[in-house]
Amino acid sequence: MKIAVITGASSGMGREFVRQAGYFYRSLDEIWVIARRKERLESLRKECRVPLRIFDGDLLKKQVYRQYHSGLKEKKPDIRMLVNAAGFGKSGTFSEIASEDKKLQPDMIDLNCRALTRMIQLSLPRMSKGSRIINLASAAAFCPQNGFAVYAATKAYVLSLSRALSSELRSRGIIVTAVCPGPVDTEFFQVSGELTDPLKKLTMAKAPAVVHKALKDSRKRREVSVYGASMKAARIGARLLPHRLILRAEELL
Ligand SMILES: NC(=O)c1ccc[n+]([C@@H]2O[C@H](COP(=O)([O-])OP(=O)(O)OC[C@H]3O[C@@H](n4cnc5c(N)ncnc54)[C@H](OP(=O)(O)O)[C@@H]3O)[C@@H](O)[C@H]2O)c1
Repeated sequence: MKIAVITGASSGMGREFVRQAGYFYRSLDEIWVIARRKERLESLRKECRVPLRIFDGDLLKKQVYRQYHSGLKEKKPDIRMLVNAAGFGKSGTFSEIASEDKKLQPDMIDLNCRALTRMIQLSLPRMSKGSRIINLASAAAFCPQNGFAVYAATKAYVLSLSRALSSELRSRGIIVTAVCPGPVDTEFFQVSGELTDPLKKLTMAKAPAVVHKALKDSRKRREVSVYGASMKAARIGARLLPHRLILRAEELL
């Protein structure tokens, strides 16, 4: 049985990966979707040409991994694609976020880094030549960010891990792509806080286009997928300029 596994499938880019996966892979038997909001996952069935298997659960808790692991043991699927899209961010200074809720920053690290790592650990034994892993990093991975410090650090982890994995798994023919978009119009901002920066609002991308590019880049075996000219420029800027200067400039904005 050939499957795709997609976390964060109940909204935003994860949901869009579910919609597009059936067109990207013509021979998928099932898509396994993971998120907390079951009714959202159920409603996706109508939009998807491939049958869905739903794992509704919190990736910050153990139960959903147990269910996923049992599913793998029972069905012994051939995982053609794993998309790690579950994640959240919170804007504000480190101290502001910590005083709002002490759990937010550790939870952000646990979801964006630990959950993604655990999903790869569980899935890799069932992947083979031509399988692909797509990890949702962010343009925030390119350099440290004032007012988004923990989030940017978690995404730097995702980018770094993805690049190393891409190199380690090349000999097995498994493709790993880190997706690094700038702002994308999803529910992300309901959790992180609304965007106030007019420049970021101006460069807001649409989820279907970002996901389409990510799938195309993965097919081209690209390690990193960056959507849009402004984010490509930001990536080059972050490579050329000292990060100390970028942080100073952010302070002035
Ligand atoms: N939107 C942007 O501007 C942007 C830019 C760059 C990168 N990204 C990254 O792209 C990824 C997708 O974000 P998005 O924009 O599509 O945001 P989104 O619409 O808020 O989707 C986030 C997904 O993660 C799931 N999720 C959150 N907490 C979870 C938990 N504890 N357990 C299981 N699932 C959980 C949510 O489902 P439930 O709530 O149903 O659990 C939802 O399906 C994230 O990793 C984000 O950091 C986003």
